[in-house]
Amino acid sequence: MDPSAYSSFSNLVASRHSCRSYDIDRPVDHALIRAIVDAARLAPSAVNRQPWHFIAITDEPEYAASRRAVLEVYDRKWLATAPVFIVCCEDHGGAWHRGADGKDHADIDIAIATEHICLAAAALGLGSCWICNFDPKPLAEALCLPEGMEPAVIVPLGYPSATAADGEFRPATKRKPLDEILSWGKY
Ligand SMILES: Cc1cc2nc3c(=O)[nH]c(=O)nc-3n(C[C@H](O)[C@H](O)[C@H](O)COP(=O)(O)O)c2cc1C
Repeated sequence: MDPSAYSSFSNLVASRHSCRSYDIDRPVDHALIRAIVDAARLAPSAVNRQPWHFIAITDEPEYAASRRAVLEVYDRKWLATAPVFIVCCEDHGGAWHRGADGKDHADIDIAIATEHICLAAAALGLGSCWICNFDPKPLAEALCLPEGMEPAVIVPLGYPSATAADGEFRPATKRKPLDEILSWGKY
């Protein structure tokens, strides 16, 4: 085991948190957005189906309608401070369905890819947040998604605002103790 590699990994995991205040005046380079989505591309997926599509929406004028659609389905002041949204879409038609019970694995696949996005963003000094509490239908329509493709997660991206970086907008994230969630051999 390489202890420094593990230390970088655990520091990265610990640094990722839900950022809810961004610096709207500091755009994110397209090259960084590409690098972040490339981390999602490398995520594992059931039977390697890669049942996903990612829509990058910056605050450039040509994407104004898509940006508005995101802000309409999740109407929060803080969200409007993010200069970029990545809408992570799952392809139910392309996903693997388990033979035993038909379970659609698209939700699992898109969750892994989305977390790759959030971790890559953290590694690049960018804030992110998972957002699932929205109505997918109007967003799917506004973004012209094909049948079977569902917007599963909205991920705002941006440089954390000075106050967010100070911690004011970073509530201490509580976690259950390890011994409560880990058992050996049986539940
Ligand atoms: C599947 C999922 C859905 C979430 N949906 C929302 C959401 O709609 N709005 C929001 O503000 N945060 C949302 N979150 C963020 C969680 O509230 C957050 O991850 C959790 O409180 C732990 O905090 P942390 O991310 O700072 O570690 C979501 C997180 C996950 C994993």
